[in-house]
Amino acid sequence: MKKTVLYDDGNIQWVVFGRDSSKPDSIIDTNEYLVQCQDETILIDPGGVEIFPNVLTAVSEHVELNTIKAFLCSHQDPDIMSSLPLWMALTPDAKIYLSWLWEGFVSHFGNEFSSNFVQIPDEGLQLTLGQSSFQLVPAHHLHSAGNFHLFDPCSGILFTGDVGAALLPVDHGMFVEDFEAHTQFMEKFHLRWMPSNSAKDIWLNRVRKLGVKMICPQHGAIFKGENVEKFFDWFDDLELGKLKRAS
Ligand SMILES: [Fe+2]
Ligand SMILES: [Fe+2]
Repeated sequence: MKKTVLYDDGNIQWVVFGRDSSKPDSIIDTNEYLVQCQDETILIDPGGVEIFPNVLTAVSEHVELNTIKAFLCSHQDPDIMSSLPLWMALTPDAKIYLSWLWEGFVSHFGNEFSSNFVQIPDEGLQLTLGQSSFQLVPAHHLHSAGNFHLFDPCSGILFTGDVGAALLPVDHGMFVEDFEAHTQFMEKFHLRWMPSNSAKDIWLNRVRKLGVKMICPQHGAIFKGENVEKFFDWFDDLELGKLKRAS
């Protein structure tokens, strides 16, 4: 897996793992994010069971596994978190941050770690790691009914789950270079998976006030610099929720 350090101020470090060239083609490519703060680590959307060995190898080459104190699952999809039971066998004390809406469903993966869940209320939560605080930002219906993103006020990084996702070739770089050319890889995904214009409007209104410097989606490439605002504008203009009859 490719590893890219996105931010490091000596206190907080963000790393993304992705572009797993050894994964089967039938499995959608995902980005797994690691945030380390002092000696504590959170894994964000740790990924699916199929890629667990590769993610585990990449993560354990970067941090000691006993520093992993928490997982954030932005929502319930298998590519987000079907590896969780395997992770919990290695880090049995780690907390699992997840929307309250999904706990009863996700417990079907294994009820033995249900006491590790931290239910995120609909309005969000402050998450503390080391001595730093992160914001769990509501993103409901984008695309899941109970969905959260994570904002780091120090780095200005906003992790956005499936918002901003793009389906890219595995040799594509980790950052968006040409925004206008990149939209072709995002448009169909957002039109199909994001069901609600009003959910989009509420989210945009919320995140545009945060001072975002980098948008980090769970699939595809990362937006930074002027591409952050370009993404917000592009998403704003996209008309969601128009169903076509399946043929
Ligand atoms: Fe999803
Ligand atoms: Fe996804």
